Amino acid sequence: MKTWREVYDNARENATLCRCCPVCNGVACRGETPGVGGKGSGSSFIRNVEMLQKVKITLDTITSNDEVDTSSSLFGHPVSLPVYAAPIGGIEINYGAKVSELSYTEMLVDGCLRAGTLAFTGDGKIPSMFEEPLSVLKKHQGAGIPTIKPWADDEIAWRAKLCLENDVLAVASDIDASGLSALRTSEVPVGFKDVDDLKRFKKLVGKPLILKGIMSVKGAMKALEAGADGIVVSNHGGRVLDDCLASIEVLKEIAEAVNGRMTILVDGGFRSGNDVFKALALGADGVLIGRPMSLAVIGGGSDGVKIYLDKIALELREAMAMAGCKKIEDITLDNVTVLF
Ligand SMILES: Cc1cc2nc3c(=O)[nH]c(=O)nc-3n(C[C@H](O)[C@H](O)[C@H](O)COP(=O)(O)O)c2cc1C
Repeated sequence: MKTWREVYDNARENATLCRCCPVCNGVACRGETPGVGGKGSGSSFIRNVEMLQKVKITLDTITSNDEVDTSSSLFGHPVSLPVYAAPIGGIEINYGAKVSELSYTEMLVDGCLRAGTLAFTGDGKIPSMFEEPLSVLKKHQGAGIPTIKPWADDEIAWRAKLCLENDVLAVASDIDASGLSALRTSEVPVGFKDVDDLKRFKKLVGKPLILKGIMSVKGAMKALEAGADGIVVSNHGGRVLDDCLASIEVLKEIAEAVNGRMTILVDGGFRSGNDVFKALALGADGVLIGRPMSLAVIGGGSDGVKIYLDKIALELREAMAMAGCKKIEDITLDNVTVLF
């Protein structure tokens, strides 16, 4: 398999619950949870994609002929581009693909590392859903970011201990999963966390802590107060609350308020290198991609992920070249016009 088209066609065969639409925009799969859609009317997922089209890139080609460099870093770890695989759980139940969580993670992590970047890995109701992905990161000297769901303290504690033992780069928590009814009522339930709870979480982790699921300046300030080292501006791909703003809409004001005090990542609807450019211009340090990355694994395994990330890198490089940006740090608000 050599091209993204081939990988995507293959994913269409194997992911029986995903339509693999020409543009992954949440329209055909509205309300399909389980499945790959957004919650309820699906409007939050759909808006994530739509609002990205309202950010336009400014062409500026009177510039030096120097090479464009997409490299960046995350908590000191160098990456070839600031794009990461988002944590995705329940591949079989959501995609209908015959692949175990363990082999999914193996292919995802391997593909990301081969492309020069990193994956966030997942967590779930039973210990193996956290332990198995972590065992994959262990094989790669901890190069990745495990995600711990907002469980009770004792459940967080053993997971945090494993993360420390395996010397992972950072730990994320999808604190917005506290709103997922299936997890709130499970035998080991998730729960909401206030600032003091999150301070305890941070102490347990002993690694940079990234809080995933921040959608307001108020939320970002609470994350800062809790001692978080990073946030993911995210509405969980529209899966936890209907009628949300798009993550790209709230990114700029959050980035301005944070003002360099935490690493800012963003996800939700990012589908191309141009989309990544827009996020960086609006203040993000990096972008997570969810659904297309899963389809890359389902359609092409580790090679599929590498092909997909190489495509994103090429698009980002071309957007940078045409906007007169040579390095990631050159991408600023001046390079875009925001139409919302
Ligand atoms: C099927 C599916 C499962 C997901 N599972 C998780 C999860 O276990 N933990 C988590 O933090 N986010 C999860 N997410 C959300 C993603 O990490 C990410 O925030 C979202 O997919 C980004 O939007 P995009 O898919 O439009 O790129 C899931 C998303 C989907 C579609």
